[in-house]
Amino acid sequence: MTQHLFDRSIYIARRQQLRSKLNNGIVLLLGNEDSSMNYKDNCYPFRQDSTFLYYIGLDQPSLAVIFDLDENREILFGENVSIDDIIWTGPQPLVQELAESVGIAESDNSAKLASLLAAARKAQRPIHILPPYRPENKIKLANLLDTSIAQLQQFVSEKLIRSVIAQREIKEEREIAEMDNAVTISAEMHLAAIQNARPGMKEYELAAQVEAIALANNGRLSYPVILTINGQTLHNHYHGNTIQEGQMVLVDAGAENSMHYAGDLTRTFPVGKKFTSRQADLYNVVLNALEHAVSLLRPGIQYKEVHTQACIKLAEGLIGVGLMKGNATDAVAAGAHTMFFQCGLGHMIGLDVHDMEDLGEPLVGYDDHLKKSTEFGWKSLRLGKTLLAGFALTVEPGIYIIPELIDRWKTEQKHTSFINYELLNDYRNFGGIRIEDNYVITSNGSKKLGRSLPKTLSDIEALRNS
Ligand code: GLY
Ligand code: MN
Ligand code: MN
Repeated sequence: MTQHLFDRSIYIARRQQLRSKLNNGIVLLLGNEDSSMNYKDNCYPFRQDSTFLYYIGLDQPSLAVIFDLDENREILFGENVSIDDIIWTGPQPLVQELAESVGIAESDNSAKLASLLAAARKAQRPIHILPPYRPENKIKLANLLDTSIAQLQQFVSEKLIRSVIAQREIKEEREIAEMDNAVTISAEMHLAAIQNARPGMKEYELAAQVEAIALANNGRLSYPVILTINGQTLHNHYHGNTIQEGQMVLVDAGAENSMHYAGDLTRTFPVGKKFTSRQADLYNVVLNALEHAVSLLRPGIQYKEVHTQACIKLAEGLIGVGLMKGNATDAVAAGAHTMFFQCGLGHMIGLDVHDMEDLGEPLVGYDDHLKKSTEFGWKSLRLGKTLLAGFALTVEPGIYIIPELIDRWKTEQKHTSFINYELLNDYRNFGGIRIEDNYVITSNGSKKLGRSLPKTLSDIEALRNS
């Protein structure tokens, strides 16, 4: 087998821990299928489901596992390849060999999974699944459980979801080492962009260099590259602009390493050799907010509080340059800062760039007693919960000057006591700045993941001059 795995004892122990949290019935974990792109046999690059990777490790399509909690059995289901398959794909391990490689005692073919589940339903045994997100798996589950896609929800087990989150959110040392590697590759991607950008280039020429580094490290992208002179558009995947002196380029890019752990970094740099003074001033406002947020990271603090404190730092900085006015804490309490920072300070990261988002943001990002806000800006904070040692997360403050939002709020006369609309109108084509790094929470603070990647104004400018 060519795939990378941790030692089988790791997967055995992880599954034991999960099963010990659950009571009775059958847990069904589906791996992902190959997914057609433009015709059946031309598929998107295969990406295994992250929970399947975490507990089973196996990185190929069309596998499923059940844990029979009552009979204490684990069974891997799949199909052995036929001679026809071997002609196209080469020899593949038997399902039984795959099962042994990750310490699963029993294996069988996929038809047996259907009959086993039919028998379990007939005996009215509980069957527990995680929320499906891929169309192929929704259809497969509906068939396996003899129900409609709309009715699948009745099999989704909150207890299973909570148990998986409680386990996956605390990163093991070996996972932190993988994330360190993924973030280091991500940092190399950013260094290439910062060092190689030249006025006159197309955004896509630079984006290609960024992606090449992920591929050259036996990885891939953990999400599509954002590389844009329009950094005010939060998830801007258009790469057709020519970059020009006087503009800034915002690059938000990360690698998924060979073990499928993600990095997620953002840097913003000038196309020329130096930031303009306006750019430099707002850059430092964002950097101060990031550094302040990082100084607060430790077990026991709510990430919502870290977000709030970062917003106050942003507002203080914006008051300093005259774009906001009044008292920063009052401005943030009123929500006026969301003119400039419309999103959240960060999210969990791990096997997924937004880790475990398939399991539902409220359970992944919020504690039971802490409900997610529905207010503009605050509703985009994916992580609010109390931090624990072992959490891995992003910190990514920004300032985004969105002309449409200025016009809308100005017409509505919104937050006129906190926003200097006259000066802001002068900045309407400013663009956006984001700085993003990844951290793991330690017993008494936090540790930055990956190799160092310059982020002070002078270090970025030094790279632009090198
Ligand atoms: N790269 C997506 C994000 O920062 O959340
Ligand atoms: Mn990002
Ligand atoms: Mn992010």
